[in-house]
Amino acid sequence: KAFFKPILNSAPPSPTKRHTKISVIGAGNVGMAIAQTILTQDLADELALVDAQPDKLRGEMLDLQHAAAFLPRTKIHASLDYSITAGSDLCIVTAGARQIPGESRLNLIQRNLVLFKNIIPPLAKYSPDSILLIVSNPVDALTYVAWKLSGFHPNRVIGSGTNLDSSRFRFLLADHLDVNAQDVQAYIVGEHGDSSVALWSSITVGGVPVLSYLDRQKIAYEKETLENIRKEVVESAYEVIDLKGYTSWAIGYSVANLARSLLRDQRRIHPVSVLATGLYGIDGGHVFLSLPAQLGRTGVMGVANVELTDYEARQLRNSATTILEAQSQLDI
Ligand code: NAI
Ligand code: LAC
Repeated sequence: KAFFKPILNSAPPSPTKRHTKISVIGAGNVGMAIAQTILTQDLADELALVDAQPDKLRGEMLDLQHAAAFLPRTKIHASLDYSITAGSDLCIVTAGARQIPGESRLNLIQRNLVLFKNIIPPLAKYSPDSILLIVSNPVDALTYVAWKLSGFHPNRVIGSGTNLDSSRFRFLLADHLDVNAQDVQAYIVGEHGDSSVALWSSITVGGVPVLSYLDRQKIAYEKETLENIRKEVVESAYEVIDLKGYTSWAIGYSVANLARSLLRDQRRIHPVSVLATGLYGIDGGHVFLSLPAQLGRTGVMGVANVELTDYEARQLRNSATTILEAQSQLDI
């Protein structure tokens, strides 16, 4: 403080700006991609990192702190002790086992359930008013687990879901049509996984519905062609995992995109994993899966009432069944 003289010899008023704190649990490939994107996009005043490996955790913290001269001022700290997360506005959970090449996300469920039993209760204790944003896979089932273990209202327990898949879908469509992916409105919904659902009937490019455009232009398209593009989205994660061992950059941007909508109260609509039971004929138990949901400072503000074709609704219910079957083996 000796560097500065107070104006009029009076102490500066205490800051009135709300202090935003984000905690990231799991300082691995995904957690650190998310952390660095949060810093670059100036989404928090304070970033707390938690991991189970002390040296790796301290190393990642120091490495981020050393970028201070190039980043907006953010307090960055780390600990194995969950008390460091106290008072978080947003807790992002990326801790857990990841797929090895060829393994499905659902294969991870038992290993990551065990971790969640040790992670979620302390997060809920130290930040009872926070929003939980789950990334660890299988993300839909683990978002359900986080909801059960935290006791939070479901509007504050969200899975990153198919926000990432939808970006991959928009990239493929934009690349094919030679337009900017941000002008392609396209949702993948359902499971963040093999049973995801492409909502072809509601895709627009620059506001023009794609399927009716193709019909008008007499451009023939087969249902099979559309399904192949959806499969390409599903395969893209497996391909990246085969090539580099994991995925990180796209999920990093995807989760920062969600964090901005939540913490800056953007009220934007994102396909994220929410408690979907009772919507679109989904029943048979409590299940989280991705639907276009409005996100703001209080979490999920509502689910968009998107028109689905009978086929899309059937596929969505099939996706719900897949997740419920995976959940049925869990002892929470
Ligand atoms: P990673 O192995 O690089 O990092 C996982 C981290 O979790 C490690 O640093 C490990 O020390 C830590 N960890 C393990 N047990 C812990 C505990 N009890 N408490 C705190 N930290 C603990 O794995 P990566 O690549 O970061 O993936 C993490 C998870 O994210 C995986 O489940 C992966 O499938 C998932 N993922 C989800 C995506 C999505 O779209 N939902 C996209 C990409 C990955
Ligand atoms: C993905 C997997 C790892 O990148 O969930 O989609």
